[in-house]
Amino acid sequence: MTENQMRLEIEKLKAQKNIKIFAHNYQNYEVQQVADYVGDSFYLSKLAAEVDCDQIIFCGVKFMAETAKTLSPDKKVILTVEDALCPMANMISAQDIIDFKKEHEDFCVVAYVNTTTQVKAAADVCVTSSVAVDVIDNIDAENILFVPDMNLGNYISEQIEGKNIISWNGYCNVHDRVRKEEVIQKRKEHEGYPVLVHPECRKEVLDEADFVGSTSEIIEYATNSDEKGFIIGTETGVLHTLRNMNPDKEFELLSPSLICFNMKKTTLSDVYSAAAGKGGIEIEIEEGLRKNALKSLENMIRLSG
Ligand code: 13P
Ligand code: SF4
Repeated sequence: MTENQMRLEIEKLKAQKNIKIFAHNYQNYEVQQVADYVGDSFYLSKLAAEVDCDQIIFCGVKFMAETAKTLSPDKKVILTVEDALCPMANMISAQDIIDFKKEHEDFCVVAYVNTTTQVKAAADVCVTSSVAVDVIDNIDAENILFVPDMNLGNYISEQIEGKNIISWNGYCNVHDRVRKEEVIQKRKEHEGYPVLVHPECRKEVLDEADFVGSTSEIIEYATNSDEKGFIIGTETGVLHTLRNMNPDKEFELLSPSLICFNMKKTTLSDVYSAAAGKGGIEIEIEEGLRKNALKSLENMIRLSG
């Protein structure tokens, strides 16, 4: 089957089976093109709870599809590729949180959305990068343990006054590879271009940047700016939307290491197979676990604004 035929088949299957396709901003371009919704983790999570459909095909990584299922248990949720996993999500376990809470009863545990359902269930509140500062600022507790991303945790603690925020020692192996020297070098090559970075980057990189935000916030910032060129410090997938929305502006990737191979595993053919019921993996979550994880996600939505 040619790519065009596949695209047509996907459209037919979407209509026949009342499917909506969700794609994260880091997905391959051909996948983003057939998606009904493309966005950051917060946007896609909220949408999963609100959208009217029978089936969600999630093109992203496993924790994202699990989040969609937690928020929307009556829908069938399919992750396009079974081993599309975020390594950071496995840098903390639910048992780690249970052990920590035993020793530190006065701490509120905040889990980044890049975690397993078990970790969300053991935590008190969940956050995505776009709402993390607002949510944690609104939590009625002084002592916070943020898991698992130490770079995002340190960034949040610099933005909020009057809270004792400690971070777990996890990290994103894509964003954490970027170095300050790369920012300095790119600025020399592209004089005057603002540097926009994701908060999963190291502090030394964030300190050099002009703007720090989630994938969608970076897209929004560049789109609303009068500047003509930008240095982008997040995964290369965002460049598709940035260039489509801003054909008269230039975008330079901050570092060649900004490729998430897990996000790139999904191809157009995987989306077709999932829609045809011949591929992908259906997400199933035991009801007690789901309800506990849901509390953390609902707390996020309630405290986000
Ligand atoms: P966003 O919430 O900014 O989309 O980020 C998700 C992610 O995995 C970043 O690496
Ligand atoms: Fe996980 Fe990093 Fe990939 Fe985001 S970019 S999905 S945090 S490995």
